[in-house]
This record gives sequence, structure tokens and C-alpha cells, in this order.
Amino acid sequence: MLVKLAILFSGNGSNLENLLEKLHKKKFGENEFEVVLCLCNKADAFGIQRAKKYKLDTLIIEHSKFASREKFDQALVNEIQKNEADLAVLAGFMRILSPVFTQNVKAINLHPSILPLFKGANAIKESFYSDMKLGGVSVHWVNEKLDGGKIIAQEAFQKEGLSFEEFEAKIHALEHEILPQTIMKIFSTN
Ligand code: GRF
Repeated sequence: MLVKLAILFSGNGSNLENLLEKLHKKKFGENEFEVVLCLCNKADAFGIQRAKKYKLDTLIIEHSKFASREKFDQALVNEIQKNEADLAVLAGFMRILSPVFTQNVKAINLHPSILPLFKGANAIKESFYSDMKLGGVSVHWVNEKLDGGKIIAQEAFQKEGLSFEEFEAKIHALEHEILPQTIMKIFSTN
């Protein structure tokens, strides 16, 4: 099938670019992937430039311009549905989503920790400075709880001896492997 993806991001967009490089307009077995929507809630996000390299415009929907979380979420849902995306991928999309979104969109989120540990925006720092021996990354289904839906995939690694910079780089390298792999798996029939 032709798998249509909507990718939502807020900032740097390295995961967006990684998905564009690895999946966009690529065929794997029965499936061909197409990113039909790049959506961002920040007008100055670097990821917008990254999408341009793939000749893709980013739709900017700024949450600050909406009167409520629900109204913002409805605008996201409208665009995702209009573009007939089969899956929304939250790749560094830094918003908590209400049931208006979670009950109407099939979505996954990438998180830089071994969930359910270290939920929230400071996961990398918190897991590095914790006494955990492992760091890791997770991909999970999105529900209305922050970083709370069912876990689909996880990878972990030994943290010992790594500087913070090395730890962070390892997290991002793992994210760049796990997210495209998970998307492929979700749609694979084998
Ligand atoms: C990633 O670490 C992701 O896990 C988290 O936000 C970061 C986004 O990075 N949710 P980038 O914008 O894809 O470079």
C-alpha cells in the first residue's frame, strides 16, 4: 500500500530529516512511504529548512494563536485528515495533546528515555544524571497522557563511562534507527 505519513515537529527536526531520507518516496516490500504533511507549531523551527531540502513545505500552525488546547488540536486533526495520513509521527513535537487529537488521529511519539521512566521535556538530562545504568529511547502510541501510551519499541544501552555529550549523541543515533524501523514494522504484514 501507499503509506501516507504526517510528521509533526517543533524545533531542530533531525528526526524529521532522517525520516525523509530513509522513508520518503521509498519502497520496502509491499509498502511505499510518502510524507504528505510536515507540520510545525513554531515559525522559526530549523526543521522547516530541513524539509525544504526535500522540496517539502511545512505547514505552520502556531499553538499560541489558539484560544484553547482543544482548538489548536482540532486544527491539527483537520490538516492530518485533509491530507489523508495513515499515521501521524510526533518527532520532537513538544505539545501535550488533548482527546480532540488522540481520539481522532492514529499517532506515535518518539521519546528519549526508557519509558515509563523520565517522561516529559527533560528526559535526556534526567536519565543521564540518574543512577540508572542504562539509557535508551522509546516509541509509543499516543494517548492523552504525556508520554503515556502503549510502548511499541525500545532500545537501551550501557551508560557507564559516557560524557553527557556522548550520551546525548548516542540517544539521537538510536532515535534515528528506531523511528523509521518502527514505522516500517507498523505497516508490515509479515
Ligand atoms: C528527540 O530527542 C525526541 O525524542 C524528543 O525531541 C527530540 C527531537 O529532536 N521528543 P529533533 O528535533 O528530531 O532533532
